[in-house]
Amino acid sequence: MIRQIKEADLDAIADIEAGVFARPLTRGDLVTLWRKPAFRGFLLAPDGGVPASYVLFLIAGGVADLVSTATAGHAQRRGYAMHLLRESLRRIEVDAVMLEVAVDNVRALGLYAGLGFAEVGRRPDYYRRPAGRVDALILRWRPEPQGSA
Ligand SMILES: CC(C)(COP(=O)(O)OP(=O)(O)OC[C@H]1O[C@@H](n2cnc3c(N)ncnc32)[C@H](O)[C@@H]1OP(=O)(O)O)[C@@H](O)C(=O)NCCC(=O)NCCS
Repeated sequence: MIRQIKEADLDAIADIEAGVFARPLTRGDLVTLWRKPAFRGFLLAPDGGVPASYVLFLIAGGVADLVSTATAGHAQRRGYAMHLLRESLRRIEVDAVMLEVAVDNVRALGLYAGLGFAEVGRRPDYYRRPAGRVDALILRWRPEPQGSA
């Protein structure tokens, strides 16, 4: 089941963030984000139970910034993120979605490529790693043009 994120979901989302990111969004960060008028967020909760996957956007002027997305560790590799993001991209009805992803984040790059995101830029040395810094890729998604026939 896919639905919009409610304030009551923010604890569960903070837990997933803390489990998968080295520098996670805290519950406080999530509350601040959720209160912004530009915020849209969706989650996937299998059988309507505990959230397994989520995506957070800030939307302005027809362009959505994908702020964060993740799937809880135990629920990964089941197609949840692909299903959630595909449905979310349909629901937000924007002209473009932008995001930043580390060049070494193979799983996320596979996900975004599968959704049709394309590289439009690069920020050198953007993310810190124990062994040094890695670039961020800037990716953009645009909806398929509607046929005029
Ligand atoms: C990236 C992430 C959200 C994918 O979530 P998921 O629910 O496991 O993804 P799905 O099962 O829907 O897989 C979608 C695609 O992602 C890629 N992918 C997912 N897990 C992968 C893995 N372990 N190895 C390689 N590719 C992987 C594949 O391209 C996959 O498509 P495929 O199954 O047709 O090969 C998840 O790995 C995650 O939470 N990672 C940590 C947080 C993160 O990096 N978020 C993105 C920040 S930019």
